[in-house]
Amino acid sequence: MLNIKNAIIRGDSLQILKQFEDECVDLIITSPPYFQQRDYGNGELGIGNETTENDYLENLLKVFNECIRVTKKTGSIVYNLGDKYLNGKLSLIPYKFAIKANENNSAFLINQLTWAKLNPTPRQEKRKLIQATEPFFIFAKSKDYYFDLKNYLSHLDDINKNSNNKPSENLGKKYFQLIQNSDLSENEKIKAKHELNEVINLTHKGEIVGFRMKIRGIHKLAYGGQDGGRNNQIKNNGFTIIKILGNRMKKDVIESPVEITKNNHHPAVYPSYIIQELIKLLSKEGDIVLDPFCGSGTTCLAAKALGRNFTGIEINSKYVSLTNQRLKQASIQQEFFI
Ligand SMILES: C[S@@+](CC[C@H](N)C(=O)[O-])C[C@H]1O[C@@H](n2cnc3c(N)ncnc32)[C@H](O)[C@@H]1O
Repeated sequence: MLNIKNAIIRGDSLQILKQFEDECVDLIITSPPYFQQRDYGNGELGIGNETTENDYLENLLKVFNECIRVTKKTGSIVYNLGDKYLNGKLSLIPYKFAIKANENNSAFLINQLTWAKLNPTPRQEKRKLIQATEPFFIFAKSKDYYFDLKNYLSHLDDINKNSNNKPSENLGKKYFQLIQNSDLSENEKIKAKHELNEVINLTHKGEIVGFRMKIRGIHKLAYGGQDGGRNNQIKNNGFTIIKILGNRMKKDVIESPVEITKNNHHPAVYPSYIIQELIKLLSKEGDIVLDPFCGSGTTCLAAKALGRNFTGIEINSKYVSLTNQRLKQASIQQEFFI
C-alpha cells in the first residue's frame, strides 16, 4: 500500500495516481508544465514536451481524470495554467483545457480565479500588451464542496476594520428623512427604518464599508433585473438596501507578485501567498492536500504551514530533493520559533 500522507513521491503523476485509493485526498492544487514552455529535463514522460497541442491536452486530461477519482466528494481541484503565443497568436490553451475538463460529469468549474501579477515579466514585443494574468481553475467534485469564505483573504477584512476612514456621525440621516416623507405604509416605514439602523451599525462596526438605499416613489428603478431582484424588493417592500462590502467582497481576482525565493532553483514557482489562501478557502486543518506536479514543493510547504497534511508527486529527482530540503528547513524554522 502506497503511503501518501506527508510524502513526496518520485515518478510520473499518472502512474503514481493510479495507485491511490478512490476519494483519499481533500484538495488538489497544482500547476502542470505549460505547453512547450520549458524543458524540465524529464524526457518523454515529462508533460509539456508533446509535439502537438492535442497530445498535450490529452495527457493533461488523463491526469485530471485521476485527480477527480482520488478526490473526496467534499473536495476540489485547482489547476493553474499559463497561456503562450504560437506563431504570434495567443493559444488559449488554458481555456481549452478548462472547457474539456468542465465537460467531465464528475467535476464542475466553480470559479476561474485570476492571478494579477504585480511584477510581470516585461517583453520586447512593442505591439502587444504585457501578459500580467494567469488563471487558477477551481473545480468541485460535488455540490457539498468545502468552502470557507471567512478564512479566505481574512487579513484584508482586518485592514478594512481597522482603517481610519470612520463613517460620519450623520450616516444614513438623509434616508430617515426620505423614508418619513415617502408614501410607504406605516408598517413599511417601520421596517425600512429598522433595516436602515442595522446597516448603520454594521458600517460603524466596520463590517461593511457603506450602503445605498432605494425607496419606492423616490428613487428610480433599475433597468431590467430578475424576478426577486432589487426592483421587486422595492415594489413589494417599499425599499431595498445595497450593502457595500469594500475589501471584504471576495472577488475572483487575487493580486500577488511573482515570487523569487532565495535557495529555490526551480524555474517555475507559483506564489505561496495564493496557494495558502486557496488552502484556507478549500480545506480545513488535518485535511490532505495533493500536488501531482509538485516542482519545488510550494503547495506542500503551504499545506504544512497551515496544519494540513501534504502529498507531492514529482518526476524529476532533483526537484524531489529540493522539496524535501525545503520541508526540512521549514520544520527547523518552526521548531526554532516555537
Ligand atoms: C510548473 S512546475 C510546478 C512548480 C510548482 N508549482 C512550484 O511552485 O514549485 C511543473 C513540474 O511538473 C514536473 N513534471 C513534468 N511532467 C511530470 C509528470 N509526468 N509527472 C510528475 N511530474 C511531472 C516538472 O518536473 C515540474 O517540476
